[in-house]
Amino acid sequence: MRKKIIAGNWKMNKTQEEAMVLASEVIHMAQDEVDSSVILVMGTPFIYLQAVKKLIPAGGHIFVGAQNCHSEVSGAFTGEVSVPMLRSVGIEYVIVGHSERREYFKEDNAQLAKKVDLLIGYGMTPLFCCGESLEIRKAGNHLDFVKNQLTESLFHLSAQDFEKIVIAYEPIWAIGTGETATSAQAQEMHQTLRKHIAHQYTQTVADKISILYGGSMKPNNASELLAEADVDGGLIGGASLIARDFIDIAKSYPA
Ligand code: PGA
Repeated sequence: MRKKIIAGNWKMNKTQEEAMVLASEVIHMAQDEVDSSVILVMGTPFIYLQAVKKLIPAGGHIFVGAQNCHSEVSGAFTGEVSVPMLRSVGIEYVIVGHSERREYFKEDNAQLAKKVDLLIGYGMTPLFCCGESLEIRKAGNHLDFVKNQLTESLFHLSAQDFEKIVIAYEPIWAIGTGETATSAQAQEMHQTLRKHIAHQYTQTVADKISILYGGSMKPNNASELLAEADVDGGLIGGASLIARDFIDIAKSYPA
């Protein structure tokens, strides 16, 4: 059985007080309402990671995650946060390659491969984001484009290490736009990526990889998306800022 994962990406939102309220609400609702088979990750700004982690009961299914990390271990990179730093404060999940990082900070597939290597080397779980722009989809090249993102950033890994990756497919045209991919569009991409993984590794490896969907996932469309055979979870932006919505999404897996 693949892991069910609902990850929130808070992006650059919330003051400390607001962040603590949101995290507390998520934790309390999750304990009361969300099945322990669903892994919940709150992707908070770096500055709140430790404070949010302190609120989370140890040994459960709720985690705090970072939204980025640097591709070098240490050094003269003013303002950056390294993988060993995150590890040293007990962070287990890190989002890498979000389309906003790719677009605004010019992160490319080769640099993301380095981040992934570091995270795996430090025993952490990369939530690796991929996804195409509207232009690429309109040109009909979306499947090949996203397959290539996996090839260039992940396919150098051994099968054993590849199994530690979580993939998040996020079509850029659906992020923050309110326009979600249809469940059929999500399933087509997820199935294509799983086949691509099976071709590079084995079907057994491919069957173990959780592939999350992201892009305007909300309580009113989550159950349809999560009902698809190859959609194993969600990466949630806007709706992760409202505890009720985030928890309702986590409760949307088919019974
Ligand atoms: P959204 O963001 O849910 O607000 O569309 C998703 C993401 O950027 O991960």
